[in-house]
Amino acid sequence: MIKHLLSAADLDAATATLVLDTAAEMASLAGREVKKLPALRGRTVVNLFYEDSTRTRISFEAAAKRLSADVINFSAKGSSVSKGESLKDTALTLQAMGADAVVVRHPASGAPHRLANWVEGSVVNAGDGTHEHPTQALLDAYTMRSRLGRLAGLNVAIVGDVLHSRVARSNVQLLHTLGAKVTLVAPPTLLPVGVDAWPAGTSYDLDAVVPDSDVVMMLRVQRERMNQAYFPSEREYARRYGFDVPRMRRLPGHAIVMHPGPMNRGMEIAPEVADSPRSTIVEQVANGVSVRMAVLYLLLGGKA
Ligand code: NCD
Repeated sequence: MIKHLLSAADLDAATATLVLDTAAEMASLAGREVKKLPALRGRTVVNLFYEDSTRTRISFEAAAKRLSADVINFSAKGSSVSKGESLKDTALTLQAMGADAVVVRHPASGAPHRLANWVEGSVVNAGDGTHEHPTQALLDAYTMRSRLGRLAGLNVAIVGDVLHSRVARSNVQLLHTLGAKVTLVAPPTLLPVGVDAWPAGTSYDLDAVVPDSDVVMMLRVQRERMNQAYFPSEREYARRYGFDVPRMRRLPGHAIVMHPGPMNRGMEIAPEVADSPRSTIVEQVANGVSVRMAVLYLLLGGKA
C-alpha cells in the first residue's frame, strides 16, 4: 500500500480497486448495530483545514471515529496561523503530537506534497487549491460502481467550471486509470490551458454529449476563485451549461447525475434534477464516509 494519498495518480488500478472493495466492506459493517470498529484504536488522525469545508471535514472526522482513532480537528481560523505561523511550523507541532495521519485541505496547490516532507505520518490530500481532491474521486468512482455495476467503459461527462476544479482533475485521472471514458464539457473560458494533454475528450456542447452519457457530473461554479468574468451572465451560463429537466429527459434510462456539493441550485443544476431519483448527491456524501474509512484503514492499518 502507498504511504500518502496526495494525488489520484498515486493509485494504480489494483490499488484503487482495493480501496473501493474495502469501502464496500466498511459500508456493510456500518449497516450492523455496532457502527464502530477497533481498527485504528490508539492512532491519531489530525484534520488540518485551511479552507472552508462542510462535507469533507465531517466525513473524515466520522470515518476516523468509526475506526476508533483519536481525532484532532484543527482549523486555520482561531489558530496561530492567523498570527502568521507557517505551514512548516504547524507541521512540526503536529509531528511533536504524534499524528499518525494528517488530513489536509489548503488553498495552495501543492501544500499537501510539501507537508509530506515534514511529517512522519501519512498525509491525505483533502483538496489543495485547484489541483487535486483524490478522496472525492474515489467516492465518486464508488458511487458510479455501486449504481451502474462497473466503471470500465462508462461514458462520464464532467460539466462546468473545470478550470477551478480539483474534483475534475482527480476524477479525470482516476476514471482513466479505471477504464472509464471522460468528456469535459465547458465553455472555452472554463477549460484550463493544457487540457488537451489530459486523458479526456472535450466539448463545448452539453446537448451533444447528454444522450451518450452514463454519468453526468456537474461542477460548482467557483465564484470565490474567479477574479474576472468567465461568462456573460448567470442566465446565459445556466441556459448553456446548467443541467435542467429537459436535458435530464434526454439521458439514457439508466444514467445518473452527480454533484460533489456544495451546489448552486438554479445555476449549474436545477433543483428538480438535484432532488430527482437520478441524482446521487446524498449517496455521494454517505459513500464518502466508507471510502475515507477505507483510505485511513489502508494507509494506517498495516503500520500498527
Ligand atoms: C469540492 C471541493 O471542495 O473541492 N467540494 C467537496 O469537497 N465536496 C467542490 C467544490 O467546492 O465545488
